[in-house]
Amino acid sequence: MSYNLLKGKKGIIFGALDENSIAWKTAERIHEEGGTFVLTNAPVAMRLGQIKDLAAKTGSEIIPADATSEEDLDNLVAKSMEILGGKIDFVLHAIGMSINVRKGRSYTDEKYDFTTKGWDVSALSFHKVLQSLYKADAMREWGSIVALTYMAAQRVFPDYNDMADNKAYLESVARSFGYFFGKEKNVRVNTISQSPTPTTAGQGVKGFDGFISYAEKMSPLGNATALECADYTVTLFSDLTRKVTMQNLFHDGGFSNTGVSQEVIERFTE
Ligand SMILES: NC(=O)c1ccc[n+]([C@@H]2O[C@H](COP(=O)([O-])OP(=O)(O)OC[C@H]3O[C@@H](n4cnc5c(N)ncnc54)[C@H](O)[C@@H]3O)[C@@H](O)[C@H]2O)c1
Repeated sequence: MSYNLLKGKKGIIFGALDENSIAWKTAERIHEEGGTFVLTNAPVAMRLGQIKDLAAKTGSEIIPADATSEEDLDNLVAKSMEILGGKIDFVLHAIGMSINVRKGRSYTDEKYDFTTKGWDVSALSFHKVLQSLYKADAMREWGSIVALTYMAAQRVFPDYNDMADNKAYLESVARSFGYFFGKEKNVRVNTISQSPTPTTAGQGVKGFDGFISYAEKMSPLGNATALECADYTVTLFSDLTRKVTMQNLFHDGGFSNTGVSQEVIERFTE
């Protein structure tokens, strides 16, 4: 169902890797709501191929950019304004990667080269994206910028590893940059804290299957899916949420405010 919420709006979408990606579902929903956009991902992710299908389906162009490279980001912002014919209304940052997680290094055995690289990709990249947009004065007034995060920024999930620290940093950047973007440009900046979701990045976390089924049983409304996250993001890009900024918004079926659920109690009293 389409409400035409994003008719005439233009944006940039980071992080669509395959059809499971939260960014992929969001691109499809934005297209349905009348928005147009440039798709971007790291050059290496591009070689894996599937983003071309999404571009064809949504009538979008693709501009490769490594989100840790200021040069790539400046080029992306300039080219996107050319392609879209003006300033940007919305930006989705849906990027995350921990090399410690990938290489099986636990939180108490981090290799700091891996930590630094993962932080650059997952957290500092959001500051770099915001700064590039800010300096180019690329955002249209009352535009909206969203990054995706996870509740491990507030509570410990041991296997989430150094990504927990990266998410805490990411959420802080949204607040700090949100102040300047609000004051100077009337642009809002928020993070959405999403339920565990079966994507390439999500499934990279050790014990993901247990993680997602536990969250499902704990959440009064059940886990939020990637498509539901896309719907929520559409509302934040629409004109209906103009004064929501500098927030970390939980989109998790109630998980973050639930102490215990009946299902979980039953499992432990068998
Ligand atoms: N899946 C979950 O359980 C879950 C839960 C909460 C939040 N999130 C967050 O949602 C976001 C999107 O992840 P997803 O779950 O859709 O997984 P995904 O694997 O589909 O997407 C991650 C994306 O990051 C991109 N990326 C990695 N390094 C990059 C770089 N240097 N430059 C540009 N792009 C780069 C990848 O190519 C990929 O497209 C991430 O921030 C993730 O942490 C995911």
